[in-house]
Amino acid sequence: MEFSIKSGSPEKQRSACVVVGVFEPRKLTLAAELIDNAARSHLSDIVRRGDMEGKAGSTLLLHNVPGTLCDRVLLVGLGKEKEFGDREYCDAVRSAVRTLNETGSFDGTVFLTETNVRKRSAAWRVRQAAIVAEQTVYRFDQFKSKKDKVRRPLRKLTFVVDRRNELAAAEQALSEGQAIAEGMALAMDLANLPGNVCTPGHLAETALKIAADHKIDCQVIERDEMAALGMHSLLSVAKGSHQDPKLIVLQYKGGKGDEKPVLLVGKGVTFDTGGISLKPAPEMDEMKYDMCGAATVLGTLKATALLKLPINLTVVVPSTENMPGGGASRPGDIVTSMSGQTIEILNTDAEGRLILCDALTYAARFEPDTVIDVATLTGACVIALGHVASGLFANNDALARELLNAGDEAHDRAWQMPLWNDYQELLKSPFADMANIGGRWGGSITAACFLARFTKKYVWAHLDIAGTAWKSGADKGATGRPVPLLMHYLLKRGGKLR
Ligand code: BES
Ligand code: MN
Ligand code: ZN
Repeated sequence: MEFSIKSGSPEKQRSACVVVGVFEPRKLTLAAELIDNAARSHLSDIVRRGDMEGKAGSTLLLHNVPGTLCDRVLLVGLGKEKEFGDREYCDAVRSAVRTLNETGSFDGTVFLTETNVRKRSAAWRVRQAAIVAEQTVYRFDQFKSKKDKVRRPLRKLTFVVDRRNELAAAEQALSEGQAIAEGMALAMDLANLPGNVCTPGHLAETALKIAADHKIDCQVIERDEMAALGMHSLLSVAKGSHQDPKLIVLQYKGGKGDEKPVLLVGKGVTFDTGGISLKPAPEMDEMKYDMCGAATVLGTLKATALLKLPINLTVVVPSTENMPGGGASRPGDIVTSMSGQTIEILNTDAEGRLILCDALTYAARFEPDTVIDVATLTGACVIALGHVASGLFANNDALARELLNAGDEAHDRAWQMPLWNDYQELLKSPFADMANIGGRWGGSITAACFLARFTKKYVWAHLDIAGTAWKSGADKGATGRPVPLLMHYLLKRGGKLR
């Protein structure tokens, strides 16, 4: 979609549709009032008669509103003014964009971006509006022979900010929002691809393409080299698959030459059957999403490159399938990880940590300033936090705080969970240095505790995105999360956000 920013009066806009908000109960926003004045109380009449009460999620499309230059006016219910926060704002933009797209408006001029949102700036409102707009019109239909064609899809959105001195910040925020949305679209496209298309090889090719487009250094490590590096934990997961595993490394250098990089690691299990510890059949198709960590870090890298952020960012993606078969790892097998620590594989379905531990050991060679891994790691995290917050674990409180704040600001939230040593005991094995599972209780914590044994050399955080990276049910699909959280973190590091 095409976006632009302006400031001006709603009654003077010549677009196909002007979008203004109404608070509950029946309170016009400033922009709606200006139209109402020009239209000799046309809007207040409608509101008084009860056709638009301002309920959150409601919309009313008006034609031929007197005194205006646009074809239509769209009223959007905002809910109660004193409850109008991040979520309510995003919902309002979503209903506006959906209605514009479905009712044949070619372009829209949106005044919702003028409405005050608690604690947020005009720049925030614009950045968020661009992201929400792109999310709303996103479709994944490349495998449909007949696409559901929107007759006249929305092509152009103009966001209005109320003061001219906000224009420059709003323009900057708009490009940030667009880049974040592009990163999310890449992440969603990759994740929505089925497992027979999105193989480790496909992820590697995608990485090479991003690298070529943005002049980023990219290296793909193959099976033999993994063996030479001692990555037997990663390799043990790949053993049952006919697809070759890949370890993808990308190095974006936008910062000073000697600046230590932020390093992102993304779990890239392109399909997780559970292996010999086979998963039950219902909803197993969703395990194509087990590469959402990989998709997230690639999307974040793309957005970073689009914005030319002045930071150094390294991305490491261990990628494999987890399949059963004659060559697959057995429960009880013991492997030696790249770190030298031995692991008793009690459950082959706890494979994410087995590939991440070697990637995290490998990460140390880049002398990173900070390492963040992103993984659809445990069903237990979904039980704990549902689909609202990603699970956050960190060996450093300052980093945890920064990521929580980034998630809050991006409306892509995380919630911190403990990494106390008390939980480490659950990983004891009689035969090896550790087991790969910790039993029934605190499953997302024991998974993180497992990873913590491989991240002692640097400042590290782990995001468990099993509940947030995709939606199940009738309109299942990837969400693009947590690209916004990571981008806010990186924007701040790059000095772009206050
Ligand atoms: N990819 C799954 C985690 C997952 C499960 C994400 C369900 C989203 C929904 C992971 O590899 C896995 O299978 N984890 C096991 C760990 C267990 C065997 C200790 C799980 O969560 O059941
Ligand atoms: Mn698994
Ligand atoms: Zn998995």
